[in-house]
Amino acid sequence: MKHLIDPTDLTREETDAIVALGEDIIENREKYSHVMDGKKLATLFYEPSTRTRLSFTAAMMELGGNVLGFSDARSSSVSKGETVEDTVRVVGCFADIIAMRHFLEGAPLAASAVSKVPIINAGDGSHSHPTQTLTDLLTIKRELGRLNDLTIGFCGDLRFGRTVHSLIKALSRYEGIRVVLIAPDELRLPDYIIQDVCVKNGIPYREVRTMEEVLPELDILYMTRVQKERFLDEDEFDRIKDSFILDCEKMKLAKEKMAVLHPLPRVNEILKEVDDDPRAAYFRQVENGKFVRMALLCKLIKWKDEPGHETPALEESGIKLIDPFGWHCSNPKCICNNEQIRPLFRMSGSGIERCVYCDTKARRN
Ligand code: NCD
Repeated sequence: MKHLIDPTDLTREETDAIVALGEDIIENREKYSHVMDGKKLATLFYEPSTRTRLSFTAAMMELGGNVLGFSDARSSSVSKGETVEDTVRVVGCFADIIAMRHFLEGAPLAASAVSKVPIINAGDGSHSHPTQTLTDLLTIKRELGRLNDLTIGFCGDLRFGRTVHSLIKALSRYEGIRVVLIAPDELRLPDYIIQDVCVKNGIPYREVRTMEEVLPELDILYMTRVQKERFLDEDEFDRIKDSFILDCEKMKLAKEKMAVLHPLPRVNEILKEVDDDPRAAYFRQVENGKFVRMALLCKLIKWKDEPGHETPALEESGIKLIDPFGWHCSNPKCICNNEQIRPLFRMSGSGIERCVYCDTKARRN
């Protein structure tokens, strides 16, 4: 059985197969309209979401399957104190596959360790968002015709933007990727991604302070929202919320073939006037999200009983686990600090011990 918790849970071949299936579904929609007849998807959303949840729901419905679940943790047994582990054990008796969004980082990983059906991470805190990544990959493929040899600029909230973290990881497995990071100091890409993804894989990266200085060289501009809900300090949010705004004037600097992506929702970081520019791909991206989720559901259900597509158990995955005695995860929003889950650590590429659930540095007690 295969779970999708982090984009690198899929090999590059598996990723390409999902993107290719997404393209085939777009071309031959009829062919897929009954492939999930009798199957059920559970959507367990502990954090607000419109497009991701609806996109999963629409995807399963278009395949002929059914959907159950909740969109607000308060209406589930969580409000009675049920753990994530117990919830997925129960829901696994009713559904063939589960998509989970959680405000605690690492919650979908903890769920996958006890689940008897595949778990899809539909976003965990500021950590990962692998199905948005598949959406982004399909969009890049359809807009530019390739997934290699790309200069991609990530702009805005690179610190809390889980879609950015996941896409950089996924792209690091393609050839000729160059990354430009456009963010204020307070919203820089976390160090663990720079070290463990860019440096480790030899991906050239640059950090800049303005969009204008790099726009002419970009193939993809990946815009993001400054995420108010992740800030502890409202004054800090107010100070940086309008740092980068894309308008038609700036678009004049960009290549004719550049594509602008945004996971949405947008606030004001892309002015409405840009929507009519043929390079504005963000609404096409939403539609691609449904098709790629259809492809993902088909593959994960097919791989459930097929050898060669297993997610290794946490203890067997080759990660070096450090005896947790004397160590703890320093992230208050990690599942291992909120539910009774045994902390696990691994040595990262940069030689720092990190929590397996949320990638935060381990600390000595
Ligand atoms: C993003 C998310 O949820 O992380 N949106 C999405 O997946 N469509 C980005 C955001 O909330 O700003």
